[in-house]
Amino acid sequence: MSTDSTSLNLKKTVEQAEDFLPLLGTDFVELYVGNAKQAAYYYQQAWGFQPVAYAGLETGRKDSVSYVLQQDKIRLVLTSPLQPGGEINEHVNKHGDGVKVVALWVDDARKSYDETTNRGAESYVEPYVMEDEHGKVVISGIHTYGETVHLFVERSAYNGPFLPGYKKYEPRFQVEPTGLKFIDHMVGNVGWNEMNKWCEFYAKVMGFAQLVSFDDKDISTEYTALMSKVMSNGNGRIKFPINEPAEGKKKSQIEEYIDFYNGAGVQHIAVATDNIIDTVTKLRDRGVEFLYVPEVYYDTVLDRVGEIDEDLEPLKELGVLIDRDDEGYLLQIFTKPVLDRPTMFFEIIQRKGAQSFGKGNFKALFEAIEREQESRGTLQ
Ligand SMILES: [Fe+2]
Repeated sequence: MSTDSTSLNLKKTVEQAEDFLPLLGTDFVELYVGNAKQAAYYYQQAWGFQPVAYAGLETGRKDSVSYVLQQDKIRLVLTSPLQPGGEINEHVNKHGDGVKVVALWVDDARKSYDETTNRGAESYVEPYVMEDEHGKVVISGIHTYGETVHLFVERSAYNGPFLPGYKKYEPRFQVEPTGLKFIDHMVGNVGWNEMNKWCEFYAKVMGFAQLVSFDDKDISTEYTALMSKVMSNGNGRIKFPINEPAEGKKKSQIEEYIDFYNGAGVQHIAVATDNIIDTVTKLRDRGVEFLYVPEVYYDTVLDRVGEIDEDLEPLKELGVLIDRDDEGYLLQIFTKPVLDRPTMFFEIIQRKGAQSFGKGNFKALFEAIEREQESRGTLQ
């Protein structure tokens, strides 16, 4: 169940990616939020991100404020408006808190802009230079699904805390990190019948290749369904699965997202750890809430995935899911939405060889839930 032909083809398909940009990694993820100060405290206290930079009234910015938080290679920017009107207010009003910018680290932001806009990308911002006493950064940007944008960040000539215009910010309050290392993948939810359009966008405009495809037979229960394709850049550092809703007896979770987000947007950010038991224990102790996994999932999981290094008991206690492909196995868990609207959530993932996305868990988890429903007489 967990092994499929897709992982066999993984290396080959990534080689098909053109990588004309190329992308060196995720530079930062910026969320537009209603109250950046309090969101920053949440990501610091609950998630173990440490504030590193700040821009606002004190740094000469008049209309908005941004906190930059970092944990290992993951950089989050939380931005709120200080005045009525404008793009940030409109974004928050329409979508609630959500990801506006997925910034990608490149060697040459001008070339990245030219390559992508020449291939049909819609311009968000033309290349421009930002400078301060720490050096200079070149930034450009294009639109992607919904109101989400990609910025290309060229920072080889810069050694400041984040970007020009930001000052170093080191609050007295420090927290212990939770072991989050880097962004493994970021998933976009798009509307009905739009998955292929956006996969083609990443293939044509960004030179990505398709790694995996899941149809509604893979990701469905008795009631709900979705479809998903995973797009990757050539070096595999940037992976963007794209989901669309599929017809079921009841509303797809993707449709629910689209309803509350008012359009396409980032559904989840998967962050990697090399000790998921330790990371999830810390996160849970600090108040992060995870999806409930029925205990029956663990009755048969080792029959499916075989031997693993970890004891099953702590995984079961935390609700961590396990899956295997031909290259190894992975451990993963999903948070509940981290906002009031049922929109964005996080995945914590630890890869032990596996390069896939937990396909075996889609069915196993849903089947486990359905067995629970059956025992309650609610699977009707
Ligand atoms: Fe994921």
